[in-house]
Amino acid sequence: MTQEQLRDFNEYMNELLADRKIQRMSQFIQHGDTTCLMHCKTVAYYSVVFVNKFHIKVDMKSLIRGALLHDYFLYDWHEQKLGNLHGFYHPGIALRNAMRDYELTKREMDIIKKHMFPLTLYLPMYKETWVVCLMDKYCTLREFFGNLFKKKTCNA
Ligand SMILES: [Fe+2]
Ligand SMILES: [Fe+2]
Repeated sequence: MTQEQLRDFNEYMNELLADRKIQRMSQFIQHGDTTCLMHCKTVAYYSVVFVNKFHIKVDMKSLIRGALLHDYFLYDWHEQKLGNLHGFYHPGIALRNAMRDYELTKREMDIIKKHMFPLTLYLPMYKETWVVCLMDKYCTLREFFGNLFKKKTCNA
């Protein structure tokens, strides 16, 4: 990540993370011993690394904010009766919560709603959504099989 990207990353992350509402994600486990908040921060981090590596021009602020909010569903999905359907319905719940609590751009909404593609059939409309969609799967695999990989999560 370039110095400029790192500055943007920290600025956009910290702006959103300063809000108490988003900190609620730290109460819920996503995969393994990773909380939802840590998962979202890691997806945001790798999304920026990915666009940097492949020189993809994106709306950086929307990419980071969308990634941070993509799993803003705010419940413990392991305890849900319909836990196995969580994959299908949590993007809609995350989007509803995020729209209630924050002003979102169209790209941010697209990222949250469609990050589970192709499980959900909503086709991503923006590059930013494709990137988060891909990095979400990458980070999920790392969290599941954390011991097999050299674990590196973002603690920014
Ligand atoms: Fe998700
Ligand atoms: Fe996710």
